[in-house]
Amino acid sequence: MEKLWAGRAQAATSKIADDFNSSIHIDCRMYRQDITGSLAHAAMLAAKGILSQADLAAITTGLEGILADLDSGALAIDPTAEDIHMFVEAELTKRIGDAGKRLHTARSRNDQVATDLRLYLRDACASLQGQIKALLEAIYEQAKANQDAIMPGYTHLQRAQPVCFAHHLLAWAAMLQRDVTRLQDAVARMNYSPLGCCALAGTTYDTDRAMTAAALGFDGVCQNSMDGVSDRDFCVEILSALALVMMHLSRFSEEIILWSSWEFKFVELDDGFTTGSSIMPQKKNPDMAELVRGKTGRVYGDLMGTLTMLKGLPLAYNKDMQEDKEAIFDAIDTVSQCLGVFAPMVRTMKPLKANMYAAAQKGFINATDLADYLTCKGMPFRSAYKLTGQLVAKCIAEGKVLEDVSLEEYRSLSELFDQDVYEAIDLAACVARRTSEGGTGPASVTAQLQQLETFLAKM
Ligand code: ARG
Repeated sequence: MEKLWAGRAQAATSKIADDFNSSIHIDCRMYRQDITGSLAHAAMLAAKGILSQADLAAITTGLEGILADLDSGALAIDPTAEDIHMFVEAELTKRIGDAGKRLHTARSRNDQVATDLRLYLRDACASLQGQIKALLEAIYEQAKANQDAIMPGYTHLQRAQPVCFAHHLLAWAAMLQRDVTRLQDAVARMNYSPLGCCALAGTTYDTDRAMTAAALGFDGVCQNSMDGVSDRDFCVEILSALALVMMHLSRFSEEIILWSSWEFKFVELDDGFTTGSSIMPQKKNPDMAELVRGKTGRVYGDLMGTLTMLKGLPLAYNKDMQEDKEAIFDAIDTVSQCLGVFAPMVRTMKPLKANMYAAAQKGFINATDLADYLTCKGMPFRSAYKLTGQLVAKCIAEGKVLEDVSLEEYRSLSELFDQDVYEAIDLAACVARRTSEGGTGPASVTAQLQQLETFLAKM
């Protein structure tokens, strides 16, 4: 493709340099945003008398035709073009002649690419939020349907205290809700228009930046033209929000992998979201969760790569910044794929409540409650803690659990024990008694479900 910037150089760039320089295979996905931005820019130029109405009409028809043809596939992207901006402008000029050459008045590719990327990311973030919503809905359904399931809660991956399965799931919902609001925050800060910043210093033309900003749905304009064309902090913010989404998904994946192992068997994944082994006939592997866990590294890499690319860059635009798009598009695609498989995997997984309960019965996870029982009856907590610890050691040696200890045996350890000790260490009662705000007790779980319902309704 002939270069729109040909003029100064005496000789053509080499093919190797052209290929290296070209970003069209990456930025072609912004063609809609590029055309939308150009339509707004042309309308503004005409409104300000910089462009004639006839030129505006030709440009508008031309750009709309290009958009329709790209959408339908009638027009193919030229892979030899330098980038999507050059491609659209050259195609426009091919179609409408000189009017096409007037479109780039009072604009540079520097403000153009910054505008296109912000427009693209605004839509992409909205779509990712919709995907997180689908996962939150799946969690909501599972939590709501399984409020009676009791499982061991863990610390150090050691059985710690009994919790309600719904409470455990709702912890993931709390994290994912923050992920949604983090994306919303990042988009709100990004949503200012760089269009009209031009190459770096603004322009001598009497443009109306507020007009293009409003037409493109921005909340205002970037107030410093050098900032507008040269910062990519919005990419870093979105990438870090996406890295956190993946961090959460990777931890959730790890639990699903553990839970579906024979060692735990707390959940059965639906056949549609597992794979078999080519050699071991008995296998049902949680590949989806493993891949999500694995792909987390990619998104962290996209974040680190972008931060490192930006580090130390002088103002204003530098070509290094062309690398921003490959990283952020990769992160968006990866997170989107992961959420796409994760939501239905969670929605269709079957909790195996009896196994959870059986695991909760082992591991002395009601030992804290036994110590609390003695404390309530007047024993200092540290003494109660020690007595319980010694009893647990004795039970382990005798191969029994706290529920198996006879009342006589309890009373031989302390006069404070009574028949009500069995109620105190009953697992369901242990869960129900944790009535503190945000605890695993039923009222708290109900409140969390309601909060999630409200959050989802507002999304
Ligand atoms: N393809 C370029 C990018 O993505 C567009 C901006 C190029 N500007 C320039 N002055 N070379 O960053």
